[in-house]
Amino acid sequence: MMKLNSTPDIDRSHPLAVVVIGASGDLALKKIFPALFALYCQNLLPEQFHIVGFARSGMSNDDFRQRVEEKLTCRYVPGEKCDELMKDFLANCTYMSGNYDSAESFRKLHAELEHIETDASANHVFYMAIPPFLFLDVAHALHGAELVSECSVRGWSRVVIEKPFGSDRASSDALTKSMLQVFSEDQTYRIDHYLGKEVIQNLLVLRFANLIFDPIWNRNHIQNVRISWTENLSLQGRAGYFDQYGIIRDVMQNHLLQMVALVAMEQPVSLHSTYVRDEKVKALRAIAPLSIDDMVVAQYGSGSSGGRQYTGYLEEEGTPEGSITPTFTAAVLKVNNRRWDGVPFLIRAGKGMSDSKTEIRIRFRGVPGNIFAEAAKGLPQNELVITVQPDAGISFRIVNRVPGLGIRLDETELDLRYSSAFEGVMPDAYESLILDVIQGDKSLFIRADELEAAWDIFTPALHELEAKHVVPETYAFGSQGPDAATALAGRFGAIWRTDT
Ligand SMILES: NC(=O)c1ccc[n+]([C@@H]2O[C@H](COP(=O)([O-])OP(=O)(O)OC[C@H]3O[C@@H](n4cnc5c(N)ncnc54)[C@H](OP(=O)(O)O)[C@@H]3O)[C@@H](O)[C@H]2O)c1
Repeated sequence: MMKLNSTPDIDRSHPLAVVVIGASGDLALKKIFPALFALYCQNLLPEQFHIVGFARSGMSNDDFRQRVEEKLTCRYVPGEKCDELMKDFLANCTYMSGNYDSAESFRKLHAELEHIETDASANHVFYMAIPPFLFLDVAHALHGAELVSECSVRGWSRVVIEKPFGSDRASSDALTKSMLQVFSEDQTYRIDHYLGKEVIQNLLVLRFANLIFDPIWNRNHIQNVRISWTENLSLQGRAGYFDQYGIIRDVMQNHLLQMVALVAMEQPVSLHSTYVRDEKVKALRAIAPLSIDDMVVAQYGSGSSGGRQYTGYLEEEGTPEGSITPTFTAAVLKVNNRRWDGVPFLIRAGKGMSDSKTEIRIRFRGVPGNIFAEAAKGLPQNELVITVQPDAGISFRIVNRVPGLGIRLDETELDLRYSSAFEGVMPDAYESLILDVIQGDKSLFIRADELEAAWDIFTPALHELEAKHVVPETYAFGSQGPDAATALAGRFGAIWRTDT
């Protein structure tokens, strides 16, 4: 078993404050504070650091620390040492209650930071863990309170925001433009947490640090690419949020398209963030805007899963009556360049499905002049399967001789499972991404032109679906999705396989 040991060597000398706006929320408590603690346990936070939680909820410092502590884990440092580290970490966490659009609240935040920071040149990360409609109010309030600085003498300021970035090209552009009044593009870190996942970070390594893949990574050898994201869950009380966006905006335009870009892009000049993102933008720009004829939209109806009965989307609490928001979409993207011309990129995302899984499948073409054609009849062609979650791994499906007398061939797999191949703690995506923010590495963050290119692919179809009031098909909760999605894949000679 190989040890997971890639703790980077970083400069910890410069003081840092991480201000988490929306500190009472789900994202902050479940992801951001645990990730910061994980970095602290690995000596990856600066020697002098402070974490300030900011939100409207009234809480004392002690209440806040208790809420944060409940979510911290000792994954990196088990045992008594962990209690000590938690105590020290929490001593560096303070909370401030305020309003997101109040100049007065942010002046108090400024005073609080001045009070706790001994060094006037401390760096600042402002993590906006709030609903996006509050981003601008907060950005202007931070600016008004003179908390945003680009100059190195006072220390840098960086802002982290999470999707959804608008709901179409125009609203996304408007958000980008308004945010630029306060934070420059260089100071802006747009998170797509899928890019922080180990297996996704490994995609470029797999493609460009191995000789064997590049010569076959093209239309001559690849028949189709399928990227699938499924969740075996209902909306769990978030129907109010989800219904405004739907699965296309919530998952496809960001997570799935990022995976498409990493599969389709050319090798960057180097790993510098500019070059990596240049190549991703080029790949996205080569994708034709999606046509509604090449997609299937659907909504889950009632059904059962794991012995439990689930109501349909329309009956979920918070779903507006008669909603036509899709909970499932399958689509075919066409990448119009020399490498991919004619290779369908099939993508699908669905909630209320039979299982929770994210994977990329690269299906190779059949063997020309195959001398084993008779024995291999009915066996699928080679397939590279990259499983992102739940059981991270890479497998390559090959045709193999079954040991024994006579000739019998079967499909088998060369299988790398991260859980058995690597020993140690697999970092959470947020640990990796927050560390990059602190270090100023933007390779895994979405640049403004990348966002534009991603919206250009989906905006016409989204507008057409809405203008024509397209009513989604229905599929049973816990199923494989609608039959129409199977038929769509079939049009391109593909099937949605879900086995490992
Ligand atoms: N949760 C996740 O795993 C996740 C994943 C991907 C992206 N995101 C994105 O990350 C951001 C935060 O997500 P979240 O799930 O933490 O959100 P959340 O729990 O709904 O909201 C975070 C905090 O914002 C304040 N807030 C919520 N609704 C508000 C409203 N209508 N008006 C004023 N304040 C309001 C609340 O704090 P106070 O009432 O105390 O002020 C709340 O605790 C969002 O942009 C979301 O889309 C979240």
